[in-house]
Amino acid sequence: MALTIKPLQPLQASFAAEASGVDLKQPLDAATIAAIDAAMDQYAVLVFRGQPLDQGEQIACSRQFGPLDAGLRKATGAATRFQHEELIDIGNVALDGSVAPPDNKKLIGVLANQLWHSDSTFQAIPVKYSMLSAVVVTETGGETQWADLRAAWDALPEKTRRHVEGLSAWHSAFHSRMWLGDDTYTEAQLARFPPVERPLVHVHPGSGRKVLFPSVHCTHVSGMTVPEGRLLVAELIEHATQPEFLYTHSWRAGDYVMWDNRATLHRGRRYDLSARRDLRRTTTLERSAAPAVAA
Ligand code: OGA
Ligand code: MN
Repeated sequence: MALTIKPLQPLQASFAAEASGVDLKQPLDAATIAAIDAAMDQYAVLVFRGQPLDQGEQIACSRQFGPLDAGLRKATGAATRFQHEELIDIGNVALDGSVAPPDNKKLIGVLANQLWHSDSTFQAIPVKYSMLSAVVVTETGGETQWADLRAAWDALPEKTRRHVEGLSAWHSAFHSRMWLGDDTYTEAQLARFPPVERPLVHVHPGSGRKVLFPSVHCTHVSGMTVPEGRLLVAELIEHATQPEFLYTHSWRAGDYVMWDNRATLHRGRRYDLSARRDLRRTTTLERSAAPAVAA
């Protein structure tokens, strides 16, 4: 059966589609990978239903789309319950398999995911796709939402476009966590992830379209005072996350959702933290971590 792509939202047919007709447990041929890449360039979010993957299958599937990143664990050194370094734990399950109690340190990352962000924009090597596999989902809450940052740019008033084009913001791995009250990071951990400067507007490589690119990871905007920059970023997030730019995904176990971090923001929605939620993420780097030529 061949890959089929069907837009999920009639009112915004260029954002978020359902992909079917492939078995993600099996290696994909080059034509299918190219077709998925093309659909990602167009829709930025692709939903595959009924694809329960074990840890190794998720790693193997994701790797077909680029080298995998290990996420913030590179800085925090936190222990993992998974067999693979590159499997990122998005859920509330403790190392021993129980539901993490409220004082479990890992919950801060889970809660920070409920703020609008793109994955790992705080690291020097940019990431491309994230892929989230749902193993155990909650009965209520815990949806994930994505915002279409290309449509957000297109809809930005001309005056605001002129104001933000050319500006850049600093992204920090710890900003969202500190905003939530967690300031327990050591100097060594902070030093492993120094802030990174990124333009507030960039061109999406796969579509050539402009992208408005604010995030909760932004600490300040170059050339502005801290409060001025934070208020601008907050205003841009508010613009970009209006209902008409959103896709909201209600999870079923076995869902596999793939998104392009360079063209979207996303966040998790609140859920009862005493209910088990086990989602696992893999993320590809935009290019290999090793520079091709030594600088
Ligand atoms: C992520 C993320 C949100 C959620 O996986 O990167 O931010 O709904 N997830 O858990
Ligand atoms: Mn995320």
